This record gives sequence, structure tokens and C-alpha cells, in this order.
Amino acid sequence: MCGIVGYIGNNDAKEILLRGLEKLEYRGYDSAGIAVISENGVQLFKEKGRIASLREVVDPNVECTCGIGHTRWATHGPPSKTNAHPHQSSSARFTLVHNGVIENYESLKREYLQGVQLVSETDTEIIVHLVELFMKEELSVEAAFRKTLSLLKGSYATALLDNEDSDRIYVGKNKSPLLVGLGDGVNVVASDALAMLQVTDRFVELMDEEIVIVTRDSVTIKTLDGIVIHREPYIAELDASDIEKGTYPHYMLKEIDEQPLVVRNIISKYQDDNGNVVLEEDIREAMKAADRIYIIAAGTSYHAGLVGKQLIEKLANKPVETHIASEFLYNMPLVSENPLFIFISQSGETADSRGVLVNVKKKGYKALTITNVPGSTLSREADYTLHTFAGPEIAVASTKAYTAQMAILALLAVDTAKNSGIEFDFDPIQELSIVATAMETLCDQKEAFEKIAREYLTVTRNCFFIGRSADYYVCLEGALKLKEISYIQAEGFAGGELKHGTIALIEEGTPVIALATHEHVNLSIRGNVKEVAARGAYPCIISMEGLHEESDRFVIPAVHEYLTPLVSVIPLQLIAYYAALHRGCDVDKPRNLAKSVTVE
Ligand code: M6R
Repeated sequence: MCGIVGYIGNNDAKEILLRGLEKLEYRGYDSAGIAVISENGVQLFKEKGRIASLREVVDPNVECTCGIGHTRWATHGPPSKTNAHPHQSSSARFTLVHNGVIENYESLKREYLQGVQLVSETDTEIIVHLVELFMKEELSVEAAFRKTLSLLKGSYATALLDNEDSDRIYVGKNKSPLLVGLGDGVNVVASDALAMLQVTDRFVELMDEEIVIVTRDSVTIKTLDGIVIHREPYIAELDASDIEKGTYPHYMLKEIDEQPLVVRNIISKYQDDNGNVVLEEDIREAMKAADRIYIIAAGTSYHAGLVGKQLIEKLANKPVETHIASEFLYNMPLVSENPLFIFISQSGETADSRGVLVNVKKKGYKALTITNVPGSTLSREADYTLHTFAGPEIAVASTKAYTAQMAILALLAVDTAKNSGIEFDFDPIQELSIVATAMETLCDQKEAFEKIAREYLTVTRNCFFIGRSADYYVCLEGALKLKEISYIQAEGFAGGELKHGTIALIEEGTPVIALATHEHVNLSIRGNVKEVAARGAYPCIISMEGLHEESDRFVIPAVHEYLTPLVSVIPLQLIAYYAALHRGCDVDKPRNLAKSVTVE
């Protein structure tokens, strides 16, 4: 979702900002802009569409060493050049970018900005007008900025330029992520460290309701009341090469192929010299002490949570509920006496999950975050974090983060069982190694999935995925992958549920992809396939070695029954990838979607 960059140093600000915005493209956006301070004052460049289009309108001759930039994912007002950020105050003295949603912008407009002509339809624009308004009260720019931010309700990460001062960027944050990066005679601002690794790997985290005054040589963090705060920087452990595509045509394909490596990485990070799973002692204790686990997540991470529920219940004999983050607060169950909340989030920034976390912490419950980004908001605000070590995931469609989340949940389940004295016959390290090898075998057979995609999905308008037990959860994920990148109407169903309504949708030629990787449901799911085939469907069975039949379209190498989702999802990821490719879709940046969903 929207991304922010800022630069103040001695080099060409416009090029650094544009490169920074390119690194944020993966988050999803529909327009972009930069503002730089030149000899002639602030120069503004905005464009609807891709950064490549913005590049074309940026004047290459502008000399500048300070500026801010933004990628916008429309919330208030459609994508357009006018609604793109940065926005300016009426006199054009102030220029501002913003990520988040200002919930009370209508009432602030009514109360303070009656006579002001607003140019855009955004909630953002009022912020920059308020700063200008409060300057009339003879406040300093900093004080006017703090006063403005203290009136805002909602979420913001924001950066402000003053046309009369080319030596300062003012930054503010509440609920939306924002970092300040430290260099030598240069400092930067970014929604995400990836954007500014080109300048530095030393970053300072900002907390909610803080502002920062950024100059070339200093970074001063303050509360909205003006109290100075000292905070140590950290080194972002990211390798710039991790975010390059290399020889791959798309990030999604690269990330699918990285899954065996990610699983092996997880094995090595969570294993001691004796081959035992090692988790932090306080996580072990929290799991042991909990009488019920509540998993909260969105999208693909929610699907990993469904598998996690099965794993923890089967192995550790502990009751688990998995909930969609955006629904949890409306449909909050009666929480047990001693719950533990587990938040699963690739980005660690999902606003829906964070909304639940804030609520849960207010009630004094303990929270654990499973995330790919340890310094993220959900990681910082929870009591404990388990890192998925999947490396940056750039494609909007989540792939390696999902398998990593399930691998971590398996280790957590095993460790909890062990710690509670429960006997089981499952060596997670050995079984995950088998999974990694099976994943490799699947990734080496891409032609088979390309063929399935071409045959089944090139012209269809819909597709169903059916499975039972854990296969059903993977079907939900397979359907999400297909719809988000190929725009084919796709749904995942529990095989047994079809005849209760959905089977009415089956027509001559409707593609139905069925997973059959579990012995106890093998016959029943095959029965469901027969039912849809009898009504004209075009079925494609993907089964597991040992359970397969001759007519199956693809047979996955056998892995332990607890871990089948980690491998059975790979054919579905690849089928979705090739379907999108055949239909000419933008695989890595699907329409309307954002990688990091930072608004509720
Ligand atoms: O960063 P998170 O894991 O919290 O994100 C949750 C969802 O937005 C995300 O999984 C989304 O569904 C993906 N685009 C699916 O591929």
C-alpha cells in the first residue's frame, strides 16, 4: 500500500527518490509523485500509473539534494494525477506526502478549512492546509506540524517540505509504518528499509505519535508535545540482492522456487546441535500456559493459520481457533481464561491484524507474532516474535511466506507438545527436510503445471478447487492465488459441501481442481470428483504418491501427512502463475491489490 520516501543529502535527490519508489512498487500503487527543493523552490512531479511514467515527466535538469516521494494506493478519490501525492498548501509553501487514512478529515475540513479551496478528493490534502493555517498563529513550522498531527484521527505516516527551508524534512507517524535511515551527511525517510538500502542500512524505528526533524546531519525524534526522545538505530539485515529478480521474469516465480531453501533455512535457524527444535523459553512457557490459542490473520496468512490450527491441536492437544482479522472484533468469541493470541503476517503491518492486537493488548492478553519482518509493527507490539526467515517477498501474491509460516507453526506445535510431555511420532526436522526435497522436485516440473494452466484456464471464466481436511485449506489458498493474479473467478470448497449448493454452478467444461493427499479422505474426495464430472465438469486431480490412481493429472512426492499443505500448494501456485501469464496479466503487480495492507 502507499509508500513514502524522503532524502536529504548531497546527491541527486530526484534520482534517489525515484529509485526508492521503484523499490516500493511491490507494495501496490496506482499513481506516484515526488517533490524536490531546487534553486527555484519546490518542484512537483506527479503521474497516474507506474513509476516509469513518473520518470518521463521528471525534469532531468532540476538540481536538488532534498525531496520527498510517494506511491499512492487510492482510498479517497480515484487514481488520478490530481489525487496523487505530494499535495501542496494554498500558497505552495508546504508540500506533503501521506500514507494512511485520516478518519476525521471531513470534520477537520468543516471546522478549520471553510474558506480553503481543496484541489483533490483526498483525505491527505487537509493536513498540508492545516499546517499552513496554524503558521498564521505565529507558530514555528515544527509546532504547526505537531499541532496538526495532534488533531488527526486515524493512521498516518507523513513527510513535509517547507519551501522556505531546504535543510529540513518534517516527518510524523501514527499506526502506519515509517523509518528514518541514517547516513554520513545524509539522512533518509522510508516506509520500508528496502527503499533506502541504496543509501544506508542503519535505521531508526518511529513509534506512534512521534515526529522527526530530519536534516543532513541530524535526526531529532520528538513526541507530539515536543519532548525529545533518544532511540538507538538498528542495522537492517537485508541484502540488496535479495530484492533483485536476477534472471527470473517475475518475482513470484523466483519466490516459488525459493521455497525449498526457505524451509531448509528455517530448519537451520530453529535447530540446536542435537537436532532438536529450539524456541525462546518465554514462547515455550506462553504456549504451555495458554488454555486456548487464537490465531488471527488475513488472506494467505489466514490460510496458513487454518493449517496451524490442525497442527497444534493434533500434536500439542491444545484447542485453537483461527479467525479472520477484519472480522474478529465484531464476532469476538468468548475468550478463554488464559488465552494466547498468535498473529500471522508476512509484512507484520496488516492494519486489520494490528487492530486486533491493539485490542488484545488493552485486555492484557499475551500475543505472539509470526512474521517475515521482525522489526514490523506487529512484531514490535506483540510480546514475542517468531521470524519466518523467508527473505523479502516482493510479489503481491504471497508464496514462500505461506509455506514458511506453516513450517514455523509445525515447529511451534512440536515444541509445545514436547514441552507439555506429550508423546508423538513425528520428527519435524527430518520431515521438513523431506518436504524441502519434494518442493524441489515440484519446482523442477514447471512444464506440467504450465500445461495444466494452458489446458484448463486459458479461456475459462471460473474455476473450483476442492479438497477435504487439510487439502480444503490448501484449496482456499489455491483459489486465492488464482483469482488475485489471473482475475479468474475461483473458489475453494470443502468436497463434502459441494452438494449443498455450489454444485449448481457446475456446467459443461467447468474446471475443477481436486487435491487428494490424505488417505482418510481419499475415497470421498474422489467421489466428489465423480459427482462434478457427471455434471460436465472438467476435473484435474492432483494426488500424492501412494494414494494416486492412473487417471490423476499430477502426483506429488509423498511427505508426512501433517505437512502435505507445504507441498500440495506448489502446483496450485504454479498453475496460478502460468494462468496469469497466459492471460497477459501483470503477475507481480495485480490490479487493485497492495502487498502491505496498511488501511483497515
Ligand atoms: O502481510 P500479511 O501476511 O499480513 O498480509 C495478509 C494478506 O493481505 C496477504 O496474505 C494477501 O492475501 C496476499 N496478497 C495473498 O497472496
